[in-house]
Amino acid sequence: MTDFLSLAEDIAREAGDMLLAKRPTMSREIETKSSPTDVVTALDKASEELIRERVLAARPGDRILGEEGGEEPGDSDVRWVVDPIDGTVNFLYGLPEWAVSIAVEVKGEVVAGVVNVPARGEVYTAALGRGAWLGDTRLHCNTGVPLDRALVATGFGYSATRRAVQGEVVAKVLTRVRDIRRGGSCAIDLCSLAAGRVDAYYERGINPWDYAAAGLVATEAGARLGGLHGRPVSPSFAVCAAPGLFEQLHDLLASLDPERDA
Ligand code: IPD
Repeated sequence: MTDFLSLAEDIAREAGDMLLAKRPTMSREIETKSSPTDVVTALDKASEELIRERVLAARPGDRILGEEGGEEPGDSDVRWVVDPIDGTVNFLYGLPEWAVSIAVEVKGEVVAGVVNVPARGEVYTAALGRGAWLGDTRLHCNTGVPLDRALVATGFGYSATRRAVQGEVVAKVLTRVRDIRRGGSCAIDLCSLAAGRVDAYYERGINPWDYAAAGLVATEAGARLGGLHGRPVSPSFAVCAAPGLFEQLHDLLASLDPERDA
């Protein structure tokens, strides 16, 4: 597991250094994906290519799932789940909240995760059963926070229909919590939760590459991560917070019926 973590960390650092170096001169020419708001830059693709090359050079045959290139076939029990830039819109605008996220799954279970936030000089790591770390500092999420004192992070999808529902839900959540933050990177939101910078997080419609690595960071920091109605976290829904707050936020979200745009 340590080998997986150190390989993932080396690769995430190399990709982050490349992105930091190339971002100032990057072209503002972008392509769009599912909608005009869903963008991909040439550097998302370059970062993913670099990560795929490094993983396959070290572990030929492993499977790789990446945001830009989809799933690489392979017969290994090991799958790498890669977001070459989580927070692409922040990256495009020169905001610091973007990350390179790499998780390693063995037989479907995430055993190691790295979230590199190059513009902040922060690298979050976690290994299953061995805790979550920001550099050399062990992370523990906030505990004992009631819903009405909770700082809650969330995000929005790229489809206008989904955003309309998410807007209604967030308006109601806002009246019940201390405040809301929309940072623009799911991976950083979950790592911020692990570091006690926010108390909770929820979002509908994220992808495994957004939450695989940071989900392990959050749970190894003591948080509970799941979906709605007892389901595990999935692209359908993610709720995350320390036990106690998790249930309060879950029940509020379940009552607001965020599944109606399914
Ligand atoms: C997005 C970010 C954002 C979240 C979106 C994701 P991307 O990932 O994580 O915070 O709200 O749902 O798609 O597109 O920047 O890799």
